[in-house]
Amino acid sequence: MPMNVPFSAARIRDEFPVFRHHPDLIYLDNAATTQKPLAVLDAERRFYETANANIHRAAHRLGSAATDAFEGARTRIAAHLNAAHPDEVLFTRGTTEAINLAAHSWGRAHLRPGDVILLSTLEHHANIVPWQLVAQATGAIVKPIPLDADGTIDQRAFLSLLTPAIRLVGLTQCSNATGVLPPLAPMIAAAKAVGALVMIDGAQGIAHGGVDLQALGADFYAFSGHKLYGPTGVGVLWARRELLAKMPPWQAGGEMIDRVSFDGTTFAEPPFRFEAGTPPIAQAVGLAAAMDWLAGHDRDTLLRHELALRERFEAGLVQLDCIRVLSASAPRGPITALAFDGLHPYDVAQFLDGYGVAVRVGQHCAGPLHQALGLNGSLRASFAAYNTEADVDATLAALATTLEQLA
Ligand SMILES: Cc1ncc(COP(=O)(O)O)c(C=O)c1O
Repeated sequence: MPMNVPFSAARIRDEFPVFRHHPDLIYLDNAATTQKPLAVLDAERRFYETANANIHRAAHRLGSAATDAFEGARTRIAAHLNAAHPDEVLFTRGTTEAINLAAHSWGRAHLRPGDVILLSTLEHHANIVPWQLVAQATGAIVKPIPLDADGTIDQRAFLSLLTPAIRLVGLTQCSNATGVLPPLAPMIAAAKAVGALVMIDGAQGIAHGGVDLQALGADFYAFSGHKLYGPTGVGVLWARRELLAKMPPWQAGGEMIDRVSFDGTTFAEPPFRFEAGTPPIAQAVGLAAAMDWLAGHDRDTLLRHELALRERFEAGLVQLDCIRVLSASAPRGPITALAFDGLHPYDVAQFLDGYGVAVRVGQHCAGPLHQALGLNGSLRASFAAYNTEADVDATLAALATTLEQLA
C-alpha cells in the first residue's frame, strides 16, 4: 500500500492469499508465525522461475543472477535495519540459529571460567539454552535477571548484578509471551558501562515497529523472517564488522573458506565465514521482499493499529471476570497472554479453534517466565497488520460462549 493511501486492515488482509483459502479464519497466532503477503510469495516464485542457481563463484549467467539476487537481498535488509554495512548481516535459518551462532562463535572464543552471562527471565528458550551450552563448555556462568511482581525486568536487581565479570547481557526486544517491552536504551547503556556485550533477541520486536541498529547500540541482533511476513528457513544475525572480524567460524564446509588443504585451512572474511554450505537463497530474497513490503507502509500506523486491537481485546475481557491479563499495566507490544481462574488454557484454545480462532497455549518457549509468574501456561493472542476489529469482536464473543460452555 503506498503511504498516501489511508490505512485499511481489510485492504492489507486482501494481500494475504491464505485468507482467500480460509475466509473465516481469525488468525491471532502471529507471534508464532505470520501469514505471507503476495509480494513475498511472488518474489520467491520469481527467483525460482528466473534466477535459480547456486550462488557465488558460478561461471554462468544464471549463477550470477542468483548471486546478485542473494547479495542484493543482503544489501536491502541491511538498509532496512540501518546497519552500517551489508557485511554485518549474516544469513541464518532463523533467530535460534542466529543466537547459536553468536554463542558458539563469540562465546567459545571469548568466554573464560567465571565470566558471567546475564539473561533476563523474559527470554525465549532460544536466548537461554545456547548460552547454557556455551557456559558448560567454557566455565562461564549464566545468571538470570529476576522479574518484578508484574512480570517486567527488575531494574534495581539488574543494576545490582552488573559487575565487570559480566561479559554478555541477553535481552528480548519484546517478550514473545506477554508482549512486555523492556526499557532497552538504559539497559544497553548500563551493560556497556561495565564492558559487557549485548545480545538483543528481535524476533518479536522487529515485527512491531522495526529496529534502527545504529541507534539501538547493541552488539548482536537476531531475528527470523517468518515472524516478519517473510519465509521460514531464513533469519539474520547482525553484529558490527569489528566484532565479526574477531569471531571464528562455528560451522564448517563449503563457501566459508579461503583456501583448503590437508595441511590447514584458512577462512573467508565475514559474512561468508559464517555461512557454511548453500544458504537459504530464495528465502533471503523473500525476506528482503517482506521488509520492502513493510517499508511500503507507515510502520507507526501499523503498530498503532495492532496496539489498538490488543487494547480493544483486553477492554472486552473485563466483562469475563475469570480472566487475567499478564503484565497488564506494563509497556507491551501487540501481544497479550491470559491466565484463567479454574480453567486450563488448552481447553479454552480448543473451543476457540472450533469457532475459527487460532491462538496459542502453553509456555511459548518461555519456561522461566511462566515459572516466575507461578503459571503452568497461558493463552496468547498476538496481533498483526491484517487483523481487524471484527477479528477481535468475534474472538471476544467466542471466548464468552466458550467460558459458558466450560463453566
Ligand atoms: C522472542 C523469540 N525469540 C526466539 C524465537 C525463536 O525463533 P525461531 O523459531 O524462528 O528460530 C522466537 C519464536 O517464537 C521468539 O518469539
